[in-house]
Amino acid sequence: MYNSKISGLGYYVPENVVTNDDLSKMMDTNDAWIQERTGIKERHWIKDGSDDTAATMGIKAAKIAMERATVTAKDIDFIVFATLSPDYYFPGCGVMIQEMLGLDTVGAIDIRNQCSGFIYAISTADQFIKTGMYKTVLVIGSEFHSGGLDKTTKGRNVSVIFGDGAGAAILTREEDTSKGILSTHLHSEGKFAKELIVEFPSINHWIPEIIANHGKEEPSYYPYMDGQLVFKNAIVRFSEVINEGLEKNNLTASDINMFIPHQANLRISQFVQRRFKLADNQVYNNIMKYGNTTAASIPIALTEAWEQGKIKKGDLVVLAAFGSGFTWGSVIIRW
Ligand code: UT7
Repeated sequence: MYNSKISGLGYYVPENVVTNDDLSKMMDTNDAWIQERTGIKERHWIKDGSDDTAATMGIKAAKIAMERATVTAKDIDFIVFATLSPDYYFPGCGVMIQEMLGLDTVGAIDIRNQCSGFIYAISTADQFIKTGMYKTVLVIGSEFHSGGLDKTTKGRNVSVIFGDGAGAAILTREEDTSKGILSTHLHSEGKFAKELIVEFPSINHWIPEIIANHGKEEPSYYPYMDGQLVFKNAIVRFSEVINEGLEKNNLTASDINMFIPHQANLRISQFVQRRFKLADNQVYNNIMKYGNTTAASIPIALTEAWEQGKIKKGDLVVLAAFGSGFTWGSVIIRW
């Protein structure tokens, strides 16, 4: 058995910045509400007419990660792509990456686990490397949220939160099993599936049925979220799954050097920070600049923290996420 390690990281966000004040021109909201409840100041939204999509943003992030890992396209054995906003209903974005990077006919899968998508994707890649099946796996988390949000007052509790962007990591084989990804921990609880959901279109509500039975105002075209329920579950599950990872490796919270939470809400991150008694320089948050980019949020934050020299060799790095499904998970890394 081997471990896997993160050998390269990259991210890309579309250049168009949308501030809270910009949103208040589209819907009944305001900068004070958004900052106080979420911590978000601005987010990046793909502009109409741009050729950015989940796949093309993913490629841009991947190329940076590959360069930093000194990996070329021919080295990549497998692609794992996490997104809830794919370019097509099917096929997934993974195969588009295979084509765009000009890779040999390597395998490619898409992960549909929303805010936990990157954790699930890393865990999937890690299993292939651990068993020795693959040596180098490209992992991407990418979201094009802004095309699918209700940007009127009706959708304000969801649409002010989400941003577009992509992050990528190259995972490679690590022979020393005391280093790299030490363990990953995944959970789900489908009884809450409808508490954070986009319901239409789906095979139960496919295009002819939608045209026959639903008008332009049908709310199920847009994301629905019971924000308070999600919040309450998030703070419990974040804490549980971090503890699970620490215990599995005979570690305690005092061993954590850097915690990178999924950027769902600054108040959730701060709650977890207090719960584990972490100092400000032991938690990396960037939700202020990007909003919640779902599967992209952890790799964007991890890349920034690494670029800023906040993660050093030998550090214990903890990643954790919670979101739609509900799904949640953690990754424990000895950097
Ligand atoms: O990443 C996936 C996982 N997602 C999460 O973890 C999100 C977890 N939940 C949250 O982050 C918070 O629940 C929200 C930020 C979504 C909402 O914050 P909240 O403190 O739970 O607010 P609320 O939904 O209880 O709404 C409070 C009030 C309501 O008005 P009334 O009924 O008190 O008059 C809302 O209508 O705020 C109103 N409101 C807004 N006002 C201005 C809701 N959205 C907005 C808005 N601007 N954008």
